[in-house]
Amino acid sequence: MKNIVILISGRGSNMEAIIHAAAAEKWPARIAAVISNRADAVGLRTAALAGIPTATVEHGNYPDRVSFDRALAEQIDFFQPDLVVLAGFMRILSAGFVEHYRGCLLNIHPSLLPSFPGLSTHRRALEAGVRFHGATVHFVTQTLDHGPIVDQAVVPVFEDDVEETLAQRVLSEEHRIYPEAVRGIVEGRIRLDGDHVRRSVRAAD
Ligand code: GRF
Repeated sequence: MKNIVILISGRGSNMEAIIHAAAAEKWPARIAAVISNRADAVGLRTAALAGIPTATVEHGNYPDRVSFDRALAEQIDFFQPDLVVLAGFMRILSAGFVEHYRGCLLNIHPSLLPSFPGLSTHRRALEAGVRFHGATVHFVTQTLDHGPIVDQAVVPVFEDDVEETLAQRVLSEEHRIYPEAVRGIVEGRIRLDGDHVRRSVRAAD
């Protein structure tokens, strides 16, 4: 059994999709813990209701990013993770943190990277007039919203879209590709090889 630790900051709908898929599809992995940097994250309740251990490491209690990241890593490592999954975790991570989890830190970003890194991706996509938008699952590197791409989903942008309608269309796809990507990794079918993602039909021995 592999251990997955999920980090959230709010709603936690991607976390929920992963929890459901892991149970329904009988992954060779357990969600060992859900950790939030905000005590009021709605997703914490969802996780607790699913019987998953939860913890909060509030960034406001630490004087700087490095000390917060150190406390966060200590809490994560308590659960002996094989994979750390960022699911709407709204914190920029320090270089030391990213290095510590090199190759086992995954993120989902609501755009077709490398387009629109950062915040307000749906508004910016509409302003740019793109015809297609989407979501990207990637391994995390030192650069924000950047790193070897595991999977992407593309959605059309319609004439009458507003931020909310586009966000909803993208989110539905996030809930499909993020569990698939996490499953592929815990099953050994998807792995990081240097700076590249390798995929195979069957698990590597
Ligand atoms: C998602 O759109 C994700 O791509 C982004 O933040 C949002 C989190 O939503 N990083 P949720 O908390 O998973 O519902």
